[in-house]
Amino acid sequence: FYVDWDIITAEKAGFDHFMLKEIYEQPKAYRDTMGSRIDESGTKVVLNEVKMTAEQVKSIQQVHIIACGTAYHAGLVGKSIIEKLARIPVETDVASEYRYRSPIITPNTLVIVVSQSGETADTLAALREAKRCGARVVAITNVVGSSVAREADDVIVTWAGPEIAVASTKAYTSQLIAFYLFGLYLAQTLGSQEAEYIASVVSELKELPAKVEQILEQGEAFKDWAEQVASHNNLFFIGRGLDYAVALEGSLKLKEISYIHSEAYPAGELKHGTLALIEEGVPVIALAIQDDLFEKTVSNIKEVKARGAYVFGLHAEGETELVKAVDQVFSIPHTLPLLSPALSVVPLQLLAYYASLARGNDVDKPRNLAKSVTVE
Ligand code: G6P
Repeated sequence: FYVDWDIITAEKAGFDHFMLKEIYEQPKAYRDTMGSRIDESGTKVVLNEVKMTAEQVKSIQQVHIIACGTAYHAGLVGKSIIEKLARIPVETDVASEYRYRSPIITPNTLVIVVSQSGETADTLAALREAKRCGARVVAITNVVGSSVAREADDVIVTWAGPEIAVASTKAYTSQLIAFYLFGLYLAQTLGSQEAEYIASVVSELKELPAKVEQILEQGEAFKDWAEQVASHNNLFFIGRGLDYAVALEGSLKLKEISYIHSEAYPAGELKHGTLALIEEGVPVIALAIQDDLFEKTVSNIKEVKARGAYVFGLHAEGETELVKAVDQVFSIPHTLPLLSPALSVVPLQLLAYYASLARGNDVDKPRNLAKSVTVE
């Protein structure tokens, strides 16, 4: 009697790769990360692990978010979340830059370090520098007991579960959830937003896992898109505001595992240089999800179309205008613009996954990359 079974296959739980499994685990990761951090009435956030007093929260004059790689991209979304909800100025920096640029850190600076592993050397060094300058440090990490978790003052754990694939997916989206929770916590403590507004964000937040499930149900649809993209060596992602932050992550994901060169650009900045690279047939992936910036993004799409680009658009369900401006369109469920990165990144993860597969690459272990970089 012979059973064709091995531990790796078992751990993949029926998926071909860890990355795909982890993409499909996102609804659970969102639910687990929100967990008991939303109170029973469903209108408020409770972050018992953050031990700051109300006085300490009120003394924060600036926030620095520091991270590397995908966690840095989560930090770019985190900046918008905290600025919008708490109305405190936020800077997001790559850890390897931050630690050597003599950042202005005071005891009224709150430093947030974001790290899936909690062991990234540059992030840890930046944390130590921040503490040396007297700042309070909050860590957002996926690993309880990691170096970052041990050395920070407060720790918000992302309950994404172990992430094996080198390209981060569920850790990134769980970091976004942690930022929503922390931003809401700051807003509640500071009184920077009306209680009704906070309740409406919390209620939409709770809808996200089901909306990710809706995207994943049509996951195979992104395969065809990826196969079209896989034959190109160069492409561009464009977007504005939070769409731009997500575009950066989509571009990184694609580079990491498909080895297709891509750049993410703020849609309005393209004409200041990069537009010179748009020629006949170059694929452009345009994110047009932010309602208030929609018209502006559409005019940038027209600029690239006029130069021959082939445009794939991503918009929110119910939007009917984008289809006229692009060559192909994909939609995601509607949510508050502030929460949209937690949905819009999912098709881009699947795009990268299927493009890597189409090119015959080792999806889970891309060349030259490591899951955790513990040396400088
Ligand atoms: C490595 C990984 C990336 C990750 C980055 C930061 O470069 O390949 O996927 O985003 O490190 O890792 P961290 O564990 O600090 O989030």
